Amino acid sequence: MEFSQILVFLALMTACLTLLVWIFCLLGYFLWPSLLVEIFQRWNMYRAGFTPKTIDVGDFQFCYMERGLPSDTNQTIVLIHGFAASKDAWCYMSHALPKTEHIIALDLPGHGKSTRKHDGDHTIPTQVAKLHQFVHAIGLHQRKFHLAGISMGGHIVGVYASRHPSNLSSVIMMCPAGIDAPHLSEFLEDVLHKGERNYLIPETTEDFLTMWKKVVHRYIPLPYFAARLFTEVRKPFNEFYKKVLLDITHPDHRFLLQNVLEDITVPALVLWGENDKIIHVSSVNVMKEKLKNSQVHILDRCGHALSLERPWKTAKLMMEFISSCN
Ligand SMILES: *[C@@H]1O[C@H](CO)[C@@H](O)[C@H](O)[C@H]1NC(C)=O
Ligand SMILES: *[C@@H]1O[C@H](CO)[C@@H](O)[C@H](O)[C@H]1NC(C)=O
Repeated sequence: MEFSQILVFLALMTACLTLLVWIFCLLGYFLWPSLLVEIFQRWNMYRAGFTPKTIDVGDFQFCYMERGLPSDTNQTIVLIHGFAASKDAWCYMSHALPKTEHIIALDLPGHGKSTRKHDGDHTIPTQVAKLHQFVHAIGLHQRKFHLAGISMGGHIVGVYASRHPSNLSSVIMMCPAGIDAPHLSEFLEDVLHKGERNYLIPETTEDFLTMWKKVVHRYIPLPYFAARLFTEVRKPFNEFYKKVLLDITHPDHRFLLQNVLEDITVPALVLWGENDKIIHVSSVNVMKEKLKNSQVHILDRCGHALSLERPWKTAKLMMEFISSCN
């Protein structure tokens, strides 16, 4: 073959491959949105240096991801995501956490790839008990660890710290639910007073875009096709998420964190976005008053999704606090 023929051949091969990738993406977009999102999440997890793992406890499977190994010279940090999210939500911020630490992010019951039981109990006390099961199942209780959670996850880790302090070095609560905030948030105003649809459980792509706008302070551009993709993937589980929302806002446990703040004895860090539209930042005043051993930081120009919007600042505050605990 002559050199020019080889060039033509290579050009044709490249064109064919590009065409195949486009056909795959288009088919995926319309036929298997979940497959595309799965590939995207796997890629993010891989880039952030995590390995996906599972562990079975009876008929329940916990899925989690892990980076690094436990040792006497590095810290173990366990990350707990918020309502209707998954462990994947931490990939972004993990780039800002030191590679020398041992990091675990869990999929809460029914979220991500952990076992989903539609009729299961997802109240905060049950989720705390589940987290404790997980901690024992993978042997985390053999060393002390730091436990961090955001939103619903912040509620869970705070209650966990009040009930199982002996294995914790510290607890980090990022804009946790579970506090009766003195001021109503924009989200609660929208849903309770203006009768808007609960965009935290998006039914349409427009709902998803509204949610995307409201969870941050400064709008992070999101292409329509991506919003549609994420909506399609979540929609089949909307009934499940509605049930979880009912469980976590059950009148008996809605403000459980507030009731146990005085029982939290391990060092506690509270982080909140000044412009949080989902859970009002005035909750910190309630927390400061009752938490004994605590530090509070309010991040300016930041909304509810701290770890997405200000990943470097959030990670820096976390690591400074963790170092101060040793
Ligand atoms: C943690 O410590 C162990 C043992 O000292 C070491 O092998 C490892 O590289 C450290 N970092 C991570 C992320 O595991
Ligand atoms: C973890 O907690 C259990 C139960 O309270 C306790 O027996 C164990 O010693 C703790 N482990 C560490 C490393 O503190």
